[in-house]
Amino acid sequence: MKLSKILTLVLALAMTAAMFAGCAGGDDKVLTMATNAEFPPFEFLEGEEIVGADVDMAKALAEKLGMTLEITNIDFDAALTGASTGKYDVAVAGITANDDRRKNMDFSNDYYTASQAIIVMADSEIKTAADLEGKTISCQEGTTGEQYLLDNEYAIQSFKTGAEAISALTTAKVDAVVIDNAVAKALSEKQEGKTIVLDEALTKENYAIATKKGNTELVEKINTALAELEADGTLAEIFAKYELPYDAE
Ligand code: ARG
Repeated sequence: MKLSKILTLVLALAMTAAMFAGCAGGDDKVLTMATNAEFPPFEFLEGEEIVGADVDMAKALAEKLGMTLEITNIDFDAALTGASTGKYDVAVAGITANDDRRKNMDFSNDYYTASQAIIVMADSEIKTAADLEGKTISCQEGTTGEQYLLDNEYAIQSFKTGAEAISALTTAKVDAVVIDNAVAKALSEKQEGKTIVLDEALTKENYAIATKKGNTELVEKINTALAELEADGTLAEIFAKYELPYDAE
């Protein structure tokens, strides 16, 4: 047999072996991720495709872990529950890591700093957070924005998506929207000048990746990979691509 023939044969055998190995161990090579693609520019739909900064980051993470990323797009509260029950390995959805949620799930290290922001109509009399007194405010269900409004006893209207929350504003059903700052900017820009984002941060929050409580092994792997992606500039590049301000500390 010619050397090239032998090489072809060896290659074919190796590929067959790899296929069988892939079948047997295939399941644990998949990283399942839940998200809610209603949160531009972190996750949103471009046609059928789920894209955004979180998606790029999750893909880079999965690659570092040698796993294939499988994304499921569901409601935000379902994404949180899905991670806490272990239905999905992770939830990546601009999720604020806070003490309340830490009771039910574990989090990776923080990867982004955010705040709650206020969107109003461009001609609104609401100029600062203090002017929200007595107003009706819309938000996304199950979010820290909603929690902030409930804690401060505002009259609220909660929606499944941020887009619906801002529609409630432009159709005069509410006086303001409270949502994460970068998302407020992205949603407001789509209104072509009808709405503005006030220059006032209501909270300070950190985004992290959620997993089932006790899944320390995965959290550690993710933290190592995150640190590498931060050190080699990948994270900064991803956030720059989506025009997200980012200070790598
Ligand atoms: N940071 C906020 C929270 O954790 C909002 C996140 C909403 N994310 C989404 N993909 N819809 O509650």
